[in-house]
Amino acid sequence: MFSKKKTTTSIDKDQLELLENAQKRIKQKKRLYIHFIFFLIGSVFLILANTVLGIGKEVTLFGKEWFLFAILIWLFFLIYHMFNVFITNKFMGKAWEQKQMEKLVSKQEARIKKMKTKLIKEENLLETSTSKNSSLESPKKTILTIIVAAAENNAIGKENKLIWHLSDDLKRFKTLTNGHHIIMGRKTFESFPKPLPNRTHVVITRQKDYKAPEGVIVVHSLTDAIDASRHDSQPFIIGGGEIYKQAMNIADRIELTRVHESFEADAFFPEIDPTVWRETTKIRHHKDDKHHYDFSFVTYNRVD
Ligand SMILES: NC(=O)c1ccc[n+]([C@@H]2O[C@H](COP(=O)([O-])OP(=O)(O)OC[C@H]3O[C@@H](n4cnc5c(N)ncnc54)[C@H](OP(=O)(O)O)[C@@H]3O)[C@@H](O)[C@H]2O)c1
Repeated sequence: MFSKKKTTTSIDKDQLELLENAQKRIKQKKRLYIHFIFFLIGSVFLILANTVLGIGKEVTLFGKEWFLFAILIWLFFLIYHMFNVFITNKFMGKAWEQKQMEKLVSKQEARIKKMKTKLIKEENLLETSTSKNSSLESPKKTILTIIVAAAENNAIGKENKLIWHLSDDLKRFKTLTNGHHIIMGRKTFESFPKPLPNRTHVVITRQKDYKAPEGVIVVHSLTDAIDASRHDSQPFIIGGGEIYKQAMNIADRIELTRVHESFEADAFFPEIDPTVWRETTKIRHHKDDKHHYDFSFVTYNRVD
């Protein structure tokens, strides 16, 4: 992490070709320049050799001194040299340039393609992370709710039966639990004549070979029961005494029907600790023809 990064200069094949070509052009122009200097010096030398030194003074062609023809021939070669450097090589250079351009374009195209693929990948990643974030921002809160009818002395049942019959309480139970998972102990499950309609029954038992009717989920712990109900936004713990006791520490809400009487019983609801549970609603109902006891619908929510 803290070690110095070794910098290595790398020249790719195209860059090398470009460099070599530039060097070649410089050499060509340098040679032409030297040729031109030689031509100037040579011409002066030829003129001087003839006029000052008198070399070949008597040699003439079409009435003109020989050095004139020698200079003209040399000039012709110089022009030919110039033609090669500036015209022929320039044309060659253009072809090369074109080739380079094509190479560059195909290279750029490949690069664009690569970038596009990367962009699509990043977009997908972003989408995934956005959906992940949004699910983190608004997690689907599960409200694990205990639903119970308990007497003033917390009695809930005797000999695996309910102690009272309160039709409004049954209606409330039906309305609240409709369409949800209902988690119960094996004894409570067996207290029903048959599974309740439109609810998913989750039965807790220690018996590994416990047989239940089709559609009833059999589990062997409360944790497994909650796990089996994980897709439900409000699973209900519906009893009995043993399961309520275990669920009190993990439930979020209690929907209690408090029956304002005391009864002899063998199954009880645990004490509701006011430091743990806050009463949020309470509706009192008085006894009537259908209801032999006064009762109240009370909702408690766990104190955060
Ligand atoms: N008033 C109300 O609102 C209300 C509601 C529901 C029930 N009740 C009443 O409550 C009474 C029944 O309650 P209850 O306490 O006797 O029985 P229960 O809680 O309904 O069931 C107890 C059974 O659940 C299983 N169980 C409990 N804890 C378990 C664990 N940690 N892991 C695996 N299995 C576990 C055991 O089944 P196995 O023995 O098969 O292993 C145990 O015998 C009845 O009288 C019923 O009418 C009243």
